[in-house]
Amino acid sequence: MQQNSQFMTLDEFTIQQLRMFPHATGELSGLLRGIGLAAKRVNYEINRAGIADILGAEGGRNIQGEEVQKLDVYANNVFKEVLRAGINCAGVASEEDEEITVFDDARSNRSKYVLLMDPVDGSGNIDINITIGSIFSIYKRVSELGKPAELRDFLQPGTRQVAAGYVLYGSSTILVYATRRGVNGFTLDNAIGEFYLSHPDLRFPSHGPFYSFDNRYYHFIEEKLRAYVDFCISPENKSGPLWNRYYGCMVADTHRNLLKGGVFFYPAVSDKPNGKLRLCYECNPMAFITEIAGGKATDGNGRTLEIQPDHIHQRCPFFVGSADMIDELMGFMQK
Ligand code: AHG
Ligand code: MN
Ligand code: MN
Repeated sequence: MQQNSQFMTLDEFTIQQLRMFPHATGELSGLLRGIGLAAKRVNYEINRAGIADILGAEGGRNIQGEEVQKLDVYANNVFKEVLRAGINCAGVASEEDEEITVFDDARSNRSKYVLLMDPVDGSGNIDINITIGSIFSIYKRVSELGKPAELRDFLQPGTRQVAAGYVLYGSSTILVYATRRGVNGFTLDNAIGEFYLSHPDLRFPSHGPFYSFDNRYYHFIEEKLRAYVDFCISPENKSGPLWNRYYGCMVADTHRNLLKGGVFFYPAVSDKPNGKLRLCYECNPMAFITEIAGGKATDGNGRTLEIQPDHIHQRCPFFVGSADMIDELMGFMQK
């Protein structure tokens, strides 16, 4: 369906989607509105991070006498505060918190959704003023409504995600989210603080010119994968040598690959047998968005989305991107 993207805001879009389901309660739209609001507050803080720096060093106190927080901690608190204040989320799991946060009040206990997140992805980029992101994943609870959310609500395989998305704080700020109906991107108009539908119905190109891998690990990965990396830059590659792009922020790398075609991988390396990325709030949401858009995601053995998580912070090797390129990569891995 072709949308008139010119003036449609994130709220209008989610309400329009809602009207297509006569039995929908509007909770998911409400939750997405909350995420949009939190993203705007985080975006505002990111934009003044340089200023905050001269007003007070991290860990110290700023000119108003307030403690200066690390952006990861700040973003984590903003997302949690906004979602706690809303009426559509029963609890949150975050990269920044060892344990899950169950909101446990009468309203939240009646909410059917829980959210998992990486509040700031690419934290290493904060200090140097380059691209970072936020990632989120939404599940319907399996525990009883009316009671507090439980750990098992958060430990569902990625196939059961209801929605997932990311915010990329780049040269402009964009919120991309997927439901089973499709993947759509909304660009923030900073002047009026509104997200507008700018990238309707995103589709992952089946092939593309980019590979994203931290070449620092070249000598510490499986030989079969090393052969694939060699193939990426080989003149024999049918599309010619690929461009290597690696931002240290998976959101940025995957976003570029989604728009232009490409593959991103963070595999097992000798001192990190499960890679680095976290299954529940980094790999699964990216895998969901990617698959809905027509791409593929795997841990090297099977679909990422089918892994049954054992704990919130578990890591897994991750290969994600254009379908044909993932197939090609798997061809090397299975030799
Ligand atoms: P985070 O900032 O949430 O810890 O995640 C950063 C991740 C990912 O986005 C990025 O691709 C990768 O870590 C970078 O790690 P290396 O420096 O090991 O390549
Ligand atoms: Mn991350
Ligand atoms: Mn993070």
